[in-house]
Amino acid sequence: MFELYLDTTNTVQLERFNKALPLKGITTNPTIIAKSGLGLKENLSHCVKILGPTARFHVQTISNTYEDIIKEAEQLNTLPYDIVVKIPATEIGLTAINHLKTTPIKVLATAIYSVQQGFLAALAGADYLAPYVNRIDAMGTNGIAVVADIQQLIDQHQLNSILLPASFKNTQQVMEILKLGVGAITLAPEVAEQLFTHPAVQPAVNQFENDWKTVFGNKLSYES
Ligand code: G3P
Repeated sequence: MFELYLDTTNTVQLERFNKALPLKGITTNPTIIAKSGLGLKENLSHCVKILGPTARFHVQTISNTYEDIIKEAEQLNTLPYDIVVKIPATEIGLTAINHLKTTPIKVLATAIYSVQQGFLAALAGADYLAPYVNRIDAMGTNGIAVVADIQQLIDQHQLNSILLPASFKNTQQVMEILKLGVGAITLAPEVAEQLFTHPAVQPAVNQFENDWKTVFGNKLSYES
């Protein structure tokens, strides 16, 4: 089952998009939490009220040593939510992921900028992989090709990781990634909004309304 996430803790945006989209939950990172001006626990308690108790929350560790990452992951896993612990796919991060996969803690390998990094994180047993599509593009490489290659390696080696690409700036990037058959995606609210927006849609809806009213006035369809 495909999983759709919003990359935000903004409750106004969550209220809005949760009505129209089947959100699995949200992804966060230290920048998103810091920008919100609230702590992690406060953010999560607001978001769960909107998304409901089955929502999944991807939360990133701050620690930068192996022991501290493990401790932080264990603490995050005690929170009363469906938590996936995000760990940057550095050498230390992969070491931590390797260990955590001997426990029931769910892990997402984040900050993936290359095919090899994604493949190693999949080998380490990460449940999810988050390649940063637009950030890779912005560095002059092809983010979509990186994701395609990681997906191919996962399939070839029958690994269990789900690709959850992040960092999009436009709907073209999103649609190219979806066509690769990834299992999940996370979108910033501005990009989610673009998915609804096409200049031809509202004029078409207006035309239908005008044509109808010309003949039937204010009657609704079932009243005609
Ligand atoms: O968690 C990483 C993802 O949110 C990066 O997105 O838009 O900051 O490149 P962006």
